[in-house]
Amino acid sequence: MVALTDAEKAMLDGESGAATQKAMELLIRYADALGAERFVETNNVAGVPGSAPQWVKDYYKADGGDYRAVFSRFDLDSDEVVDVPRMNAFSCHLQGGMDPMLWQEQGMTEDAHANFVSDEAEVAAHGIQILKTCTPYLAGNVPVMGEHCAWMESSAVVFANSVIGARTNCEGRESTSAAMLAKRIPDWGFHTDDFRKGQHSVDVRVPVDSIFEWGMLGYFVGDAVQDTIPVISGNISEASLIRHKHFGAAAASSGGVEMYHMVGITPEAPSVEQAFGGAARGDVFIYDQAARKRIYETLNSVGTSEDVDFVMLGCPHASIEQIAQVAALIDGRKVHVNSALWVFTSRAVKATADANGYTKILRDAGAYLMTDTCSAISQAVPKGTRVAAMDSAKQTHYLPAMMGIEGWYGTTAECIDAACTGKWKGKLA
Ligand code: F3S
Repeated sequence: MVALTDAEKAMLDGESGAATQKAMELLIRYADALGAERFVETNNVAGVPGSAPQWVKDYYKADGGDYRAVFSRFDLDSDEVVDVPRMNAFSCHLQGGMDPMLWQEQGMTEDAHANFVSDEAEVAAHGIQILKTCTPYLAGNVPVMGEHCAWMESSAVVFANSVIGARTNCEGRESTSAAMLAKRIPDWGFHTDDFRKGQHSVDVRVPVDSIFEWGMLGYFVGDAVQDTIPVISGNISEASLIRHKHFGAAAASSGGVEMYHMVGITPEAPSVEQAFGGAARGDVFIYDQAARKRIYETLNSVGTSEDVDFVMLGCPHASIEQIAQVAALIDGRKVHVNSALWVFTSRAVKATADANGYTKILRDAGAYLMTDTCSAISQAVPKGTRVAAMDSAKQTHYLPAMMGIEGWYGTTAECIDAACTGKWKGKLA
């Protein structure tokens, strides 16, 4: 049984209101299922609190079919509907279901949009920050090293643990919504020192020096180590936020990697010894030319037609640096009449892209800069899409399988070229 502090007992007794009481009840069930002995306090929570498509609201029609009903019955798993106050923790909303302006281009209905607007008003009224992104760390929520967080979204979790050294498990909707009220999360998993030690080694023997290469290495690593912690060393260079973003998202897709160590690069791995922290060293996986070629072929195994009718960029959501790069690549060109180009980012980053003129450059070329969501999350692609091209191993992993379409993986430049010519000409150098 998880031990409770006096403050936690008071929340459980209802002294902070019925919703926080329900949140504590849920978190205690969760902690006991995990075998956690205590809670840690958190003031950094990222989830999708109370947001729901209309069919979920309809499911709770007998309870009122509104935000309050969904938050109580779905998020808090409560057997009764309770009043939901403003959140107590610093709380952020991750990606949502549609672009607030370009929802019609994404094929959303007026009813779905009206539901989106109503949900967003409720989220804001409950004190939750409308970041609407899978990259909260690019939109105003950057935790610090050692900070206990409760985050959903696998690509954000692996970034927080590995690159920043913050501490979070890959939480779910219920635990994050409860944590927003109770400011607690079980002291288990990545919150503890022992859990963060490396388990397997990855020896990189080919140069990994671009987003494209970091994405493929991430896909290899996830496939190799699944949900364990790799210690990666060797020929990796030019680390940057974007490269880590693509690496981690890929590793969390082909496997379930929630934390990785890169020796001499990530903060908890100044050396191989420190990355393993005295733990047993498991297998050694070698990333060489043969492995690189195999990963490239795997990612491109669902592409046969060279006629690309959709290019999707911004998975995880594009940084301003990536949008600037896309704008430079497409400036003066036009998206082909048989193709489409959608680039996804957060609202915060788009505001900068607007100010810099990048949004206009994309629009003049016939492309869209979209926010809040992505093609995989919203299952939104241009009507009639049969063949997509992407520069993200994660999106390539999910989108073709989800939408029943073909897919190509390549560099950002190859993708822009495909959007402007309607033809896929990517190849492995
Ligand atoms: Fe983000 Fe969608 Fe990729 S939510 S991580 S852009 S699958």
